[in-house]
Amino acid sequence: MKDEVILAIETSCDETAIALLRNGKELLANSVNTQIEDHRRFGGVYPELASRLHLENIDQVLSYVLSLKGFDPRSITHVAVTGGPGLPGALQIGAMAAKTVASYFGVPLIDVHHLAGHIYANEFAGEFRYPLLAIVVSGGNSELVYLPRPFEFHILGETEDDAIGEALDKVARALSLPYPGGVSIDRLTKDDETIETFDLPRPKVDGYNLSYSGLKSHLLRLIQKEKAEAGGTLPPQRVKEIALSTEKAFVEQLLDKAELIKGDYDVRMVVVGGGVSANSYLRKRIRERLKGVDILIPPLWCTTDNAAMIAMAGHHMIERNLLSPLSFRTRPNRNLEEEGREKGE
Ligand code: KG4
Repeated sequence: MKDEVILAIETSCDETAIALLRNGKELLANSVNTQIEDHRRFGGVYPELASRLHLENIDQVLSYVLSLKGFDPRSITHVAVTGGPGLPGALQIGAMAAKTVASYFGVPLIDVHHLAGHIYANEFAGEFRYPLLAIVVSGGNSELVYLPRPFEFHILGETEDDAIGEALDKVARALSLPYPGGVSIDRLTKDDETIETFDLPRPKVDGYNLSYSGLKSHLLRLIQKEKAEAGGTLPPQRVKEIALSTEKAFVEQLLDKAELIKGDYDVRMVVVGGGVSANSYLRKRIRERLKGVDILIPPLWCTTDNAAMIAMAGHHMIERNLLSPLSFRTRPNRNLEEEGREKGE
């Protein structure tokens, strides 16, 4: 049988990424051009700049992948691309490139949901066992997604306000830590056993939903007050204490809800995805808190946005014949629950 070779493109936010995946297993290429440095001075992603940089970078990343030594571009059988959710302009550039490559090689297109990519990134760590609970945590998302079967998504819980990464970034900014704040908080706290923590209020949220904005506001007020008392700058040890207490409160809330779902639903495996899944405290605590189920954690290279995960989700879409016409449109606000069902499943 002919090998399945997917060329995948991801440009939904601030990474221009292209990957090649053979038969859903072998990653032949994985190139990520990140714009983090360019957005740092804005303290977050500046959408217009993201689009411009994707446009500047995509040719380079694409030609790098297509000219890999020993790789024949004519062996590409499918092109997968993130079609949403994401920044509207940024998505368009990836889609344009994907449509061009697919039409040039005369191969089918696959329009992949970004979060399906974050979930299936875990397959680079091991095989999925269903029913499965996916914890998707990033700068724009905090969702608890139940998959009774492959590629069937039920959102059981989500944030009622800020996403976990977004709130972490804001607290880190108030602590004068560099962007992206979640990464800075992790770096500051992960190898220091001496940091003392304090309790933060536990948000009361119904069911499996989450909330980070109350906690964030409480922390911003606390930091402002302590900074004023300290004459403008917090002592480094106090910054560490606030950083670790924040990380703990944010992660424990997430794991409380995951534990609740594990008690109420049939769950064989728990996986995590999205930028915040790189967090050391979360990676350690998930195994301590969620006993009796298999746990998969994506390799660190696969936690932030990349195209390998889009190729992996695309591989499962091919199995289910979820292909898209060249005329498909990107959808910046796209519902994960409709995936897999919308094309006549
Ligand atoms: O998935 P992602 O790269 O981009 C999207 O939001 O789509 O996630 C970025 C988020 C940022 O908020 C960043 O601070 C957070 O993930 N993040 C982390 C870590 N690495 C990235 N948060 C905590 N610990 C980390 N190690």
